[in-house]
Amino acid sequence: MKIAVAGTGYVGLVTGVCLASKGHEVTCVDVDENKVKIMKNGDSPIYEPGLSELMKEHKNNLVFTTDYEEAYREAEVIFIGVGTPEKQDGSANLSYVFEVAKQIAQTVQRDCVVVIKSTVPIGTNDKIESYIRDKQKNKDVCIYVASNPEFLSQGTAVKDTLCASRIVIGVEEVFPGEVLKKVYEKFDVPKLIVKRRSAEMIKYASNDFLALKISYINEIANLCEIVGANIEEVTEGMGYDARIGHRFLNAGIGYGGSCFPKDTKALNWLANFNDNEIRTIRAAIEVNENQKFKLIKKTKKYYDDFLFLNVAVLGCTFKPGTDDLREAVSLVNVPLLLEDGANVRIWDPVGMENFKKKYPNKIQYCNSIEEAITDADICLILTEWEEIKNFDLRKYEKLMKKPIVLDGRNCYQLEEVKKTNITYDSIGRYTVNPQ
Ligand code: UGA
Repeated sequence: MKIAVAGTGYVGLVTGVCLASKGHEVTCVDVDENKVKIMKNGDSPIYEPGLSELMKEHKNNLVFTTDYEEAYREAEVIFIGVGTPEKQDGSANLSYVFEVAKQIAQTVQRDCVVVIKSTVPIGTNDKIESYIRDKQKNKDVCIYVASNPEFLSQGTAVKDTLCASRIVIGVEEVFPGEVLKKVYEKFDVPKLIVKRRSAEMIKYASNDFLALKISYINEIANLCEIVGANIEEVTEGMGYDARIGHRFLNAGIGYGGSCFPKDTKALNWLANFNDNEIRTIRAAIEVNENQKFKLIKKTKKYYDDFLFLNVAVLGCTFKPGTDDLREAVSLVNVPLLLEDGANVRIWDPVGMENFKKKYPNKIQYCNSIEEAITDADICLILTEWEEIKNFDLRKYEKLMKKPIVLDGRNCYQLEEVKKTNITYDSIGRYTVNPQ
């Protein structure tokens, strides 16, 4: 099928490339000429395992352009995967989605289905459909709008798309549902056809449930530290109950990224806007905001102030497997350390270039974990990269001025740390070699 995709961020680009891999003719549109140039050369502008390879393999089915007219005019299906960033009040900014809708209305020359992949507040699909039909230049063609939320995670986006847990299709008529079934014909995964508003809600309710699960387990972890229980033993015991499950029960210093923080705030905003309250989600947001400061608070147990303190920061991305810094805990913790006069050294396998754009000076960017921890008074682990998990613990002892490691992501087994002299303070577990 002839498909156009608006926006080449995580959602748009991964969707476009995966659809091309199933034999569709896909044209990806972006306003950013630089990005389009990179993609035309067969490279991915984002770091996402497997994506560049798939782009190269299916280059004959993929076109990248800034020319939206060319892309939309004859497309049978147009996916919208542009960003819906958070506004000051917590609501979603829909200006990019409406901009694309306007372009579609002005250019489309055949019946087509516009598919909203971006995460949008409940009722947006209805509004987009009315908007397009109102602004439509060629009144002879019929344009339908369908909701098709994505459930991909950064770092596993290609796998999450090709082997999705489910494909949710929200439609008000039979025709767009049939078209989307055809688009996804070669995806051997459960497909669910629901009303558009339900599809929009499935997306928010799923993300916010996961955020709630993380905040819940983080609170249990905080309590474990107080009462002397071990969060890992606790979650292992909980997870065997199939109704709970083992996944998304990793305690840490809070969730980040471009989705959970934004989507929890958006649902909270939506509830308030409708004179309603969603107290569970409000609590999840509050817990997460506090959790981000957990390592800073722990640092104060070891040092009264941070002036001239050598602090090694390991990991700065919001999770491993991505160079994305959006809502990363590092962006809250590092400025606090700098403000209080600490000397900060950072190591991250892929995130430092992006961090440098925000903090070009003041921070020492290191090429190895060893370089970052040498002569450090304390080490803060913010992201659970494999390189950190596999790092030889004895090197902390050997290279740091004082081997105090505060682990915000529980990278090490307590039994292993016990074999060393490191003071190791993690989340929801007892401190090894306390001072
Ligand atoms: C999330 C969802 O997992 C996807 O299903 C969804 O499609 C996506 O948002 C989206 O809406 O686009 P993502 O933001 O890429 O995906 O990352 P996650 O793997 O969900 O992690 C989010 C944050 O939660 C990270 O900061 C991670 O460290 C944290 N987390 C995750 C925990 O603290 N504990 C856990 O057990 C799991």
